[in-house]
Amino acid sequence: MKKKPNYKLRRTIAKISLVVIVLVIIVIINWTSITRIPIYIQYSNKYSYVKTLFEVGYNNEETKATIEEFDKKKVFDKINEDYIIELHNKGYKNKTINFILVNFTKLEITKLLNKEHNKDLEGFLDVELFNFDHYQRYVDYKEDYPDLSLDQVVTRVELDLDKRPYETPEEEKDPNSLTALVNKHRYISKDYVPTDLVEMSDEYANNAYGVKEIRKETYEQFKKMVDDARKEGITFLAESGYRDYDYQETLYRDYVNEYGEAKANEFAARAGFSEHQLGTTLDLSNIWTLEEGDKEYKWIDENGHKYGFIFRYKSKFEDITGYKAEGWHIRYVGVDAATTIHKKGISFDEYWLKYVKNNSK
Ligand code: DAL
Ligand code: ZN
Repeated sequence: MKKKPNYKLRRTIAKISLVVIVLVIIVIINWTSITRIPIYIQYSNKYSYVKTLFEVGYNNEETKATIEEFDKKKVFDKINEDYIIELHNKGYKNKTINFILVNFTKLEITKLLNKEHNKDLEGFLDVELFNFDHYQRYVDYKEDYPDLSLDQVVTRVELDLDKRPYETPEEEKDPNSLTALVNKHRYISKDYVPTDLVEMSDEYANNAYGVKEIRKETYEQFKKMVDDARKEGITFLAESGYRDYDYQETLYRDYVNEYGEAKANEFAARAGFSEHQLGTTLDLSNIWTLEEGDKEYKWIDENGHKYGFIFRYKSKFEDITGYKAEGWHIRYVGVDAATTIHKKGISFDEYWLKYVKNNSK
């Protein structure tokens, strides 16, 4: 005999399923609010801020991070929820709102709210090397050089180019490194002498300035470069290599006496501020000292990176390096760094800022 179906059980299952489905739908619809509940509970004393942040579109993670940051920076003493709403309504992105509330004074925030949406501020925050502490310096520099991009402004300020040469120099603490940066804002100790200096032979160096020493690896790579260039009919020699602090001091003083300080600063470095003291720098000549545009210059500009060499002072980088172009002055920075610099067409100063100081990939 056929068994009678259990209609009662079926009805119960159907009812339970319906309730479950309805519950699931409710949970799905309210999921965002439900996930917010723990944050409301966690920051119950900041309930109104949490609510405002959610209202203007912060997600859970952003809200949590923001409340914690505001708490740490003691921002709640100076701001109210209206600032958040007004900044949002003006069109500022969440990241910018946080930056403003953390870093600006109450008066500055009010002033900002009375003006149009500040696109530059938003733009600066998107620049990779942006440093919150230098914001005002960027603004001032941009005002002086309105044609520069925001990226260029940040780069230059981070290289201290908004300061006068030699104004507040920092010491390069790792002069032994192949990517040590020495310029008008960075110096090396008076006492620094490389420990692996070797003397260049007459085959690779003339003795025009009597300085034939250079660091060992630089010399090995220089010889390879000279040999390969010769095979292609390109010849040049080193005419100045490592210069110690005292020698550079005499050289600089003589130039200042002859040309005056302003002119001398266009082509000569103060003692301690010259790359020649690193022992990885060479000045080159054929019969004459090389200049940009010479065929030897062009060959090195095209091929030097394969051996680790770059031209340190090009005419296109004069406002970054602070020196007039020197088509004779090459620097050994290692093959990897030289190749990146060559490929990207950037100055060594920019390379250092991005890849050495800030360790970008
Ligand atoms: N001529 C370069 C800038 C130096 O003196 O090191
Ligand atoms: Zn030089």
